[in-house]
Amino acid sequence: MYIAIIGDIHKAWDDFDVAYFNQSSCDALLFMGDLPGRSHRGTDAVAAELARVTKPAYFMPGNHDGVTIGQFMGELRQNEKWIQKYARRQAPLCDSLQTALGDIVYTGYSRHDLEVSDERIHLVAARPHSMGGATLAFAPYLKERYGVASLEDSADRIEALFDECDGPIVVFSHNGPAGLGAERDAIWGCDFTREGGDFGDSDLAEALRRARSKNKQIVAVIAGHMHHRLKGGGERRWFLRDEHGTAYINAARVPRILRLNGERRHHHVALRIENGTAAVTEILAGESGFDLRNPAE
Ligand SMILES: [Fe+2]
Repeated sequence: MYIAIIGDIHKAWDDFDVAYFNQSSCDALLFMGDLPGRSHRGTDAVAAELARVTKPAYFMPGNHDGVTIGQFMGELRQNEKWIQKYARRQAPLCDSLQTALGDIVYTGYSRHDLEVSDERIHLVAARPHSMGGATLAFAPYLKERYGVASLEDSADRIEALFDECDGPIVVFSHNGPAGLGAERDAIWGCDFTREGGDFGDSDLAEALRRARSKNKQIVAVIAGHMHHRLKGGGERRWFLRDEHGTAYINAARVPRILRLNGERRHHHVALRIENGTAAVTEILAGESGFDLRNPAE
């Protein structure tokens, strides 16, 4: 089974991507969200371009999707007044985004089953719209749409999805789990401050811990949000494998369309699953072919 993971898009998606993935041997696409630039304007137009993909595809809303600038700034500054004031715009914007995505499955606190020949996996979509760090971002909307009012609620909700699974699980979320490092270049480490810090989601980490205690088989944990390029220079680690064999993938290479050897290259991460084990490669595809990058390189 080959799952193509597309990290934070931030407007970097074009006709080449549509043709490439439609002709690709991939069995499904996972979009990690963040379609627009700084403002939410243009989100639905990008979504309509993603909707031209003819393969099964799943979309995880990011912290830039379906939210206005006012709301975004409220979250960034933890200004409760702004968070409340602009919250009611989110539901109609998310509904509109979902419509624009067409046949792409709009995920969040949801379970989906994927079967290719004799390989079968459960896809578990964890918390949508995560901004990372210690807060439950966009809490009024999460409460209204999903009945989730706290990080504890969120962990319970994700755990309940794991409980429904009886085989190999691939879990994805806009931001990755806490507990994987507090260095600035850690897979979901904070590069906005000099001292760094773990910017992963504690609810997802807790749900994963509980799933393991129930012997659930977590093949891969996928997210984006914390861009590969670090503030102040350098690149973060985007892949690791833990002692249980779980593969962790941060797919947020931004911009995902870049120039390599004088040619435009389009980034995605190829996740191949065979007998419940994950193999991961970074792919930079262009008109003349593609480059593969092993996570160890
Ligand atoms: Fe993000």
